[in-house]
Amino acid sequence: MLNLSVLTDPGFCPHSLNKYASIMACGNGYMGIRATHEEDYTRQTRGMYLAGLYHRAGRNETNELVNLPDVIGFDIELDGKNFSLLSGEILSWQRELAFANGELRRSVVWRSPEGKDYRLESRRFVALDPLPLVAMQLAITPLDASAQVGLKTGIDATQTNSGRQHLDEMSVRVFDQHYMQGIYETQDHASDVVISAFCRLSTESDSCFTAKNRRVQVHHALTVSRGETVTLEKLVWVAHRSDRALSVETFARHALAELKACATSGYASLLARSACAWEKVWRDCRVEVASTEHQDQMALDYAVWHLTAMTPSHDERCSIAAKGLTGEGYKGHVFWDTEIFLLPFHLFNRPQTARSLLRYRWLNLPGARAKARRNGWPGALFPWESAASGEEETPEFAAINIRTGVRQKVASALAEHHIVADIAWAVVAYWQATQDDAFMRNEGVTLLMETASFWMGRATDVKGRLEIHDVIGPDEYTEHVNNNAYTNYLAWHNVASACRFMSMFNREDVRFTEKATDFLTRLWLPEANADGVIPQDDTFMAKPAIDLSRYKAQAGKQTILLDYSRAEVNEMQILKQADVVMLNYLLPERFTSQQCAANLAFYESRTIHDSSLSKTIHGIVTARCGDTEGAYAFWRDGVAIDLGDDPHSSDDGIHAAATGAIWSGVVQGFAGVQIVDGELHLAPKLPAHWQKLIFPLRWRNANMRFTVENEALTVETSAPVTLTLWGKNLSVTGAQAFAYKNFMTSVTGTATTEGSHDA
Ligand code: BGC
Repeated sequence: MLNLSVLTDPGFCPHSLNKYASIMACGNGYMGIRATHEEDYTRQTRGMYLAGLYHRAGRNETNELVNLPDVIGFDIELDGKNFSLLSGEILSWQRELAFANGELRRSVVWRSPEGKDYRLESRRFVALDPLPLVAMQLAITPLDASAQVGLKTGIDATQTNSGRQHLDEMSVRVFDQHYMQGIYETQDHASDVVISAFCRLSTESDSCFTAKNRRVQVHHALTVSRGETVTLEKLVWVAHRSDRALSVETFARHALAELKACATSGYASLLARSACAWEKVWRDCRVEVASTEHQDQMALDYAVWHLTAMTPSHDERCSIAAKGLTGEGYKGHVFWDTEIFLLPFHLFNRPQTARSLLRYRWLNLPGARAKARRNGWPGALFPWESAASGEEETPEFAAINIRTGVRQKVASALAEHHIVADIAWAVVAYWQATQDDAFMRNEGVTLLMETASFWMGRATDVKGRLEIHDVIGPDEYTEHVNNNAYTNYLAWHNVASACRFMSMFNREDVRFTEKATDFLTRLWLPEANADGVIPQDDTFMAKPAIDLSRYKAQAGKQTILLDYSRAEVNEMQILKQADVVMLNYLLPERFTSQQCAANLAFYESRTIHDSSLSKTIHGIVTARCGDTEGAYAFWRDGVAIDLGDDPHSSDDGIHAAATGAIWSGVVQGFAGVQIVDGELHLAPKLPAHWQKLIFPLRWRNANMRFTVENEALTVETSAPVTLTLWGKNLSVTGAQAFAYKNFMTSVTGTATTEGSHDA
């Protein structure tokens, strides 16, 4: 059995309820449930979300991930008083999320204000198999006298997204004294959600059902003797559909039948079934590290947990929200985060899921084409933020200035066009890692052609040179600039890749090729200066730089905007997040390590890292430049974004991209995994805190496992592979070990191997 980490909530604290509700959230890619307590607290935000279920609540609103009726809440009455940890005394406390089987557990011994002691234990999981199932148990034990216990729970459709109600209650029913069912419809009539709940008490009680004010509930009242435990088991089946193939009654009947089948199994055996599915995840994807810092393994398990819980592998019609399925931040919209920060994990572990994420973009091509056309450009302009339909979902306005009543326009939808090339980059990376010709033939080449056409139309001829004007690069503190280096290089890569794959898959088109050749010859690619620094855009180098240390110390909080307006920030050398460094990371073959080091040195002091997408990228490029300790410091800062001490940074959900970057920082940073000119490269070097690193990697038809220890690397592979290790090209079969020192001293192209043996 793998020794998996357990994520703990150190103690009940009303200020950090939402942080732990996000980071300890349970999910399975189909749905996510925030780790809220069973009892209510005013500031606690409950949340249950289904991947791909978006709805627009009304005028001036945007489509958002619908917060579904709550099933986690319980009213617990002990001897006539509401149980709340805000009163009385907590005598013992344990709350943990066990990554091994996916169970969230809490055990509290509580002394009521009247001086009576009770033990309350709750556990729950969102099943990885079957996906629509949530299971819970709540156990209560009076410790020093018998107690009157009242329990109320059910399906609570008063839940909203911060007051915005998305669902109409169509019907609520009770069946067979144990089952409740609520049928809801989004207010645009496009989707149905059927929530069915089963409750079973371990002993006889007075019970009744009520349905009132959008709540259907079961009430239990009973006397529990001292030392006896009463347990309520609750199973919930959450079904959703946006097609109307069946009548809603039939759909609801099926859902109830599924739940009934689960009820015959019961909590323990349902947990065992789901744990089996988790075990496979851990066996296939876990990254193991022996570190002097206990948190490092925890961070890696945390990352794989959420990367699984947030990803709708089951449904290519949806993709990954910027906060996964753990909260309402960014309205559950999908950004470039998916292709650039999340897809690499899937690419190298679950290529089928990477394919499904790319299929989401392919299915949404009509919306991207329409956006391009609306703006007068050819090809496909993918939305900066998208939901289910592929339409642009970026809110037109951001926060309001409450003194003037003026709302600040969001420029990203208008100019953050690099997402087009990011998607193309991901298509190429997918093919390189899988050689999935069928995908390339059916979807990939079309995606590349459409995105390339966009760039060819988007470029402007300036005295014979092609330039890309009025864009926002990844650094969102610098808006409406010309020739953002990241955008231009990625656009070039996009068009070059389109030509290459069109020819490879017999999709040549003479006019396209002529235009593309001209584009590739004439597109301006900002050049490095004598020190190797690439200017971020045409005007960046002429702007003044200021000392950012005060703001860097508060990275992530955007405190610069308290001292300067956005317009002022735009006129200074201030980066929110990695931009040229991001480019160095994505196209390693284009830059020497001296150039990467020069860009890091120049841009690091100018980057506040106010975006969670920034530090780990600096870390990966730092590692690739050979500064492993510097890279480790960045990586730890990246881990702290969700797992650090800040009680509020994750209130509205975890940072999905930063979670992907935890994995990437290790595999693409310390292990040096990169795709260079289509080939797999590795150059492992561990930070001083680490003694050992083990990770799996899928590459084409090979399942590999790498172990890095004592400056040596062992590769185990299920099929022969060719890879470049510390700069030397090798063919590997079975299991082979390679020592770092031999590579450094070897002068010929042939690497020396040490201790080779077959698996
Ligand atoms: C970042 C974007 C990112 C978005 C969603 C913003 O703060 O600047 O790069 O895509 O958050 O994570």
